[in-house]
Amino acid sequence: MNVRHTISSSANKGKPFLRWAGGKRWLIKHLESFLPETFNQYHEPFIGGGSIFLYLNPKKAFISDFNAELIEAYDSVKNNPQEIIKHIKSFKNTKEEYLTIRTQNFQSAEKRAARFIYLNQTSFNGIYRVNSQGKYNVPYGHRTKYQFDFENILEVSKVLKNINIFHADFMQCIENVKENDLIFLDPPYTVTHNNNGFIQYNQKIFSLEDQHRLADLIQQIKDKKAYYILTNANHLKIREIFDFGDEITEISRASLIGGKGAVRGKYSEIIMTNIRREVNGIFN
Ligand SMILES: C[S@@+](CC[C@H](N)C(=O)[O-])C[C@H]1O[C@@H](n2cnc3c(N)ncnc32)[C@H](O)[C@@H]1O
Repeated sequence: MNVRHTISSSANKGKPFLRWAGGKRWLIKHLESFLPETFNQYHEPFIGGGSIFLYLNPKKAFISDFNAELIEAYDSVKNNPQEIIKHIKSFKNTKEEYLTIRTQNFQSAEKRAARFIYLNQTSFNGIYRVNSQGKYNVPYGHRTKYQFDFENILEVSKVLKNINIFHADFMQCIENVKENDLIFLDPPYTVTHNNNGFIQYNQKIFSLEDQHRLADLIQQIKDKKAYYILTNANHLKIREIFDFGDEITEISRASLIGGKGAVRGKYSEIIMTNIRREVNGIFN
């Protein structure tokens, strides 16, 4: 049976507990016009900071990501938020403490999650970046006035209560997809918009080959008669790879991707979807 999607009602719900590169909070104001009227289960296989998932607050959902530390943090926030909060409270927001915690490996999953959230919030730009040994290496952010939002961690824990969380490559999500489900796909952007360079903000670069695999996934989603919404860079190559004849909408926004040599400017992105909506009695 189809259910109407539920938008979170409490003002405190629906907020990411992490800063995340490529986060889609800016998309929320455009989202309503892309959603189907009804859908069954929700899937988000590139969950990152989870802004769209947390905003929608769906009752039945599968969320996943390739970043194991991130997924462990979601699991711990779901199962034991109080323990995480206790550990975060024991960490001081100073450069010395930050550099110490950055090198530490903790035994308990909750303390590792606390470390992950603490580093994310007090680091230079919140970007998740690791060195060749897989060690987080973002410098201290000097956000000395920053206050952790513990209330929000507790709220997110409630949103996650009945949600399936797993560490996986995006292709794996298809196993749980059924007819009339909604799959929101927000991959790392492989190409920059003005040239053919690569954006590298993940341990594993999302290659053009991955974009082709993603196109295969979308074909399988369509074959199952489910809905997808894909965000991607507005680039000719991307339009070619995802040439399903589905609707494409261009959206401009201020890019917040920082780093050496990065320019903060307006970039255009595209949203592709097989959802057909009725506007003034006419299907687009
Ligand atoms: C653009 S971010 C998602 C941001 C998210 N929508 C938000 O609002 O915060 C892309 C995510 O894809 C994940 N990722 C990269 N390669 C992946 C893969 N092969 N399978 C699953 N997730 C992957 C990254 O770890 C990152 O969290």
